[in-house]
Amino acid sequence: MNSFEEILNKEEFSKQDIITLLSSEGEQKQMLLKKALETKLKYVGNDVHLRGLIEYSNICEKYCLYCGVRNKNNKVIRYTITDQEVLDCARLALKLGYGSIAIQSGERTDEDFINKICFFLKEIKKLSDGKIGITLSCGEQTKETYKRWFDCGAHRYLLRIESSNKELFYRIHPKDDEHNFENRLRCIDDLINLGYQTGTGVMIGLPFQTIDNLADDLIYFKKKNVAMVGMGPFIAHPDTPLWKFKDNIPSNEQRMSMTEKMIGVLRLMMKEINMVAATADQTIDKQGREKAIIAGANVIMPNLTPNRYREEYLIYPDKACVGDKPEECYQCLDLRMRSIKHKILYNAWGDSIAFLKQHKKQENE
Ligand code: 5AD
Ligand code: FES
Repeated sequence: MNSFEEILNKEEFSKQDIITLLSSEGEQKQMLLKKALETKLKYVGNDVHLRGLIEYSNICEKYCLYCGVRNKNNKVIRYTITDQEVLDCARLALKLGYGSIAIQSGERTDEDFINKICFFLKEIKKLSDGKIGITLSCGEQTKETYKRWFDCGAHRYLLRIESSNKELFYRIHPKDDEHNFENRLRCIDDLINLGYQTGTGVMIGLPFQTIDNLADDLIYFKKKNVAMVGMGPFIAHPDTPLWKFKDNIPSNEQRMSMTEKMIGVLRLMMKEINMVAATADQTIDKQGREKAIIAGANVIMPNLTPNRYREEYLIYPDKACVGDKPEECYQCLDLRMRSIKHKILYNAWGDSIAFLKQHKKQENE
């Protein structure tokens, strides 16, 4: 049996090693987080990259069992931000020095939606003189759609797998044509093959989720060699089917602690990737995003959505920063990052070093 320290110093972890690390508490957990922070500082430094988040529309074709904006929740007032407002958000990002934006939306697969995203990509490239990097997070689409968006200038795509375990996936999604595990895997493969910097991730502390599942999630990220990962705590929403399990999930403290450990272990496994400190961290713990950054994350997604829409994009309740003006978030984040000896890197795309190196390698081959 290896000691905890011996495991921490290994180059490659077995699944059992990962489970041991994720099970650590107290002093051992601190050793893990310390090593993860050291590793991050050594490989990607103390820069924090920003992705200004535009929650374009809460109209969604799907009804995932955890999501507050699922189409079967008729308490939500549906909105789509006007074209002008989207472009204004991009201008604001430019002004604030956010080098990158992320356009996130409920899932739509109709031609009008696909074309609209193409329009935004082209217009934002134009108005920023190519200075703003654009990440899309618009769910499952066909390979053709992903290719069209890529050709219009999207270079990163976020699509969380939510769980790499098929059984758990179907505990948190309906099992029907609209929600299909194999299709989700196919999307992630297509994105990678098309040349996107591809990000995926999972929710932590889902009902029925085990440490074994979480270890498999980390192994899946590594196997796919993804460029980015976003992981955050699950937060039960009262208007969703998973609400009934709200008392059967780990406490806020436990979910935050597991999130830190997941980030820490993944930083040791994938030293140069980009990892997001999720807004959900901040929702369950006032210092949540700072904790995620100290555990090894290096990306934050401040909200740029015009305030009047934000209340209707509550994928989970009590979302952090909903009432804050973009300029307030800007100042607040800057201070928060300084307080933990990190610095926000303004006016840069902040690409994943892992991705850039890999692409260089491929070009030279
Ligand atoms: N709690 C935490 N995260 C959630 N997401 C959706 N609903 C919830 C929730 N109730 C996350 C999913 C999705 C991302 C946009 O938000 O992981 O991929
Ligand atoms: Fe919208 Fe799941 S409810 S993608």
